[in-house]
Amino acid sequence: MMRVVAGGFPKRLAESLQAPADEEDPLQLLYSIVEVVDRTDSYTSGHSARVADLAAVIARLIDCSAGDIAVIKQAAFLHDIGKIGIPEKVLRKSGPLTREERHMIDLHPIFGASMLARVPEAAALVPLVLHHHEHWDGHGYPGKLAMTDIPVGARVIAIADAYDAMTSYRTYGPAMTSEQGLDELRRWSGKQFEPRLVDTMQEAFSYGLIERKKSVVFPESFGGVLT
Ligand SMILES: [Fe+2]
Repeated sequence: MMRVVAGGFPKRLAESLQAPADEEDPLQLLYSIVEVVDRTDSYTSGHSARVADLAAVIARLIDCSAGDIAVIKQAAFLHDIGKIGIPEKVLRKSGPLTREERHMIDLHPIFGASMLARVPEAAALVPLVLHHHEHWDGHGYPGKLAMTDIPVGARVIAIADAYDAMTSYRTYGPAMTSEQGLDELRRWSGKQFEPRLVDTMQEAFSYGLIERKKSVVFPESFGGVLT
């Protein structure tokens, strides 16, 4: 295989070029698109992979079947694929968004779901990606679904996504510690998140199944905008 000499070349890109592609996996191209989104977005790198791992832990603890866990993990990895068309300056913006910019962001679950709907092997992931920003109380988007009308996998991805977003450095804000992140989940339990899943996150943390994030400065006004 060709070796890539990484003199000044982004290390992760060099590594991914050296990694053997899994030609058997029909979703391989979609994974590559997510890597681009991750590099463009405001999160620290690896956000999608961390959300996938965390979603799988939660799904296991709530007794999902092995097949469902696999689907939830894949959908969690691909959840923000619909951000691919959003300009970097919008994704990384620290100030308030304009109406047009907000609209652009709000459409990403729909764009992501429609991308996946074109791939027959990803059919089971479509509703999970489409609904990963719904809130337990019905105030999310795009469908304003509430409670158990939201697919369980989408509820799992929503809480894993929010926790990782809060406990990761972002371009416009510091990271919370694990304890602060869990406190925020508790504060939004029954509103943004399913209460059972907030308890499950606490349980996973107590069992040591979630890496303890140590960081830093707590943002003074988080404002409840969790993702
Ligand atoms: Fe998202």
